[in-house]
Amino acid sequence: MVRNTETSYGSITKWMHWLTALFILIAYVSIYYLHWVLNDEGPLRSPIIQLHKAIGFSILIFIILRLYWRTNNPHPALPDRLPKWQVKAANASHFMLYLLLIVTPVSGYLGNTAGINYGLFNIPSLKEAAIFVEMLGLFDLSYDQFEVPFDFFHYQVAGPLIVWMTVAVHISAGLYHHFVEKDVVLKRMLPGNLG
Ligand code: HEM
Repeated sequence: MVRNTETSYGSITKWMHWLTALFILIAYVSIYYLHWVLNDEGPLRSPIIQLHKAIGFSILIFIILRLYWRTNNPHPALPDRLPKWQVKAANASHFMLYLLLIVTPVSGYLGNTAGINYGLFNIPSLKEAAIFVEMLGLFDLSYDQFEVPFDFFHYQVAGPLIVWMTVAVHISAGLYHHFVEKDVVLKRMLPGNLG
C-alpha cells in the first residue's frame, strides 16, 4: 500500500520516516566522530564535514517532500482514548520536529561558505552569489557578519541541544505507546502492515 489510509501509514510515509531518522543519526554520528574521536583534526576532517553537510541538506529536501505528502494524504489519528493533553503534546512535538528539521539545515547552509558537494554536483554557498553579497553590502554587512547568528544557532543551540532533545522526546513517546499503552501507534510506522 503506497498511500496512507485513515488508520495506517503507507509505504512512502514509512520510507520517508525511517530514512529521515537514519539521516539524522548519520548527521550526528559524523560530526561527533570528528569532534570526539578525531579531535577535529586529520585528513578525514574535510570528507566528514562534506558528508555531514550533504546528509543534513538532504534532510531538508526530505522534510519538504514529507510535508507535501502529508498534506496530500489522510493522516491516521491517535487512539480515541488518549487524554487530550497527550494528543496536544504529540501534535506540538511533531510540529517542533518539522520546524527544527527545516531551520537547522537552513542555518547550517547559511552559515557555510564552501558549498555542498554531492559528488555528481555541487550546491554553491550563498556567499558565492554575487547579487546576494551586493545586497548585504546595501546594509553595510559582509557575508562573514551575516552568517554569525546562523552559526551560533547551528553550533550552539540547534545541533548540540534542541534537535536531539526533541528527537529523544519523540522516540520516548513511541516506546511509551508500544510498551506501556501497548497500542498500534509505533507498530503502524514499522515496515510491513502491522497497523
Ligand atoms: C538536520 C540537519 C542537521 C543537523 C541535525 C546538524 C547537526 C549538527 C551538529 C550536532 C553539529 C555539531 C555542533 C557542535 O559543535 O557541537 C553540527 C555542526 C556543523 N554543521 Fe550541521 N546539522 C545539520 C545540517 C547541516 C547542514 C545542511 C550544513 C551545511 C550545509 C551543516 C553544516 C555544519 C558545519 C559546517 C558544522 C561544523 C563542523 C565543524 O566542526 O567544523 N549542518 N551540525
